[in-house]
Amino acid sequence: VEQSALAERLQQGTEPLVIWDVGLGAAANAMAAIECYEMLAAQGPVRPLQIVSFENDLDSLTLALRHREKFTYLRHGGPATLLKEGAWQSRTLPGLSWTLLQGDFMDLMVEAPAAPDLIYYDLFSSKSEPHQWTQEMFVKLLSCCQSKPAELFTYTTSTAARVSLLAAGFHVAHGQSSGAKVETTIALTPTAVAQRWGNQHRLLGKEWLARWERSQAKIPVGLEGSAADEFAARIRQHQQFVL
Ligand SMILES: C[S@@+](CC[C@H](N)C(=O)[O-])C[C@H]1O[C@@H](n2cnc3c(N)ncnc32)[C@H](O)[C@@H]1O
Repeated sequence: VEQSALAERLQQGTEPLVIWDVGLGAAANAMAAIECYEMLAAQGPVRPLQIVSFENDLDSLTLALRHREKFTYLRHGGPATLLKEGAWQSRTLPGLSWTLLQGDFMDLMVEAPAAPDLIYYDLFSSKSEPHQWTQEMFVKLLSCCQSKPAELFTYTTSTAARVSLLAAGFHVAHGQSSGAKVETTIALTPTAVAQRWGNQHRLLGKEWLARWERSQAKIPVGLEGSAADEFAARIRQHQQFVL
């Protein structure tokens, strides 16, 4: 689904499109975006694309690059140059560039060279790394979007993650299945909703809200008493449920 959002956006406008690839890992998502750009650029005009990858541990990419026979998508000049120099610029397509920000995303997001249009949020799960899926984290991320009509794609469907996104002010939609998973999650900034970018996405509705009311992950761990009540009210009154 992020590929179709990318293709659609690349064919509209002239300003550089910015992807935040949060959790570069072995660069599968970033390379899929690069391949998509190269394919579309061969067919007709596309706007420039700037990919900004965030990673605090480059072992996965280093290892995968040593085994290019298995990771065939890495048979490309980009990943090795990115790893060595922290940036890559396509020689054949001047509009295509890739930057690596090495370190903790929480700290680095405010240093990114450009605000995102598309965010591939691919960190470890909310079970193993709950602090990366909190309201506080997504408030910071939403503010980094600087009123852009941004869409965030993530593989998780966890209630804890979705409710944090909602509490932070994103609108949240059901994502289409990717691989073995039945569903994923797409979050939209209010500007994206206002500009109808999310029109093709199915926003979580009353059914999801009813399930959330019964969920054990209804309120983030640590919130109690009036803080918990305020949090619950914030979700119930979220624009996407009251309209
Ligand atoms: C699920 S993997 C990403 C897979 C990758 N998107 C791909 O397409 O191959 C998650 C990655 O996020 C990185 N990561 C986890 N926490 C991070 C943080 N706080 N800041 C930056 N990177 C982080 C991990 O080191 C790991 O490589």
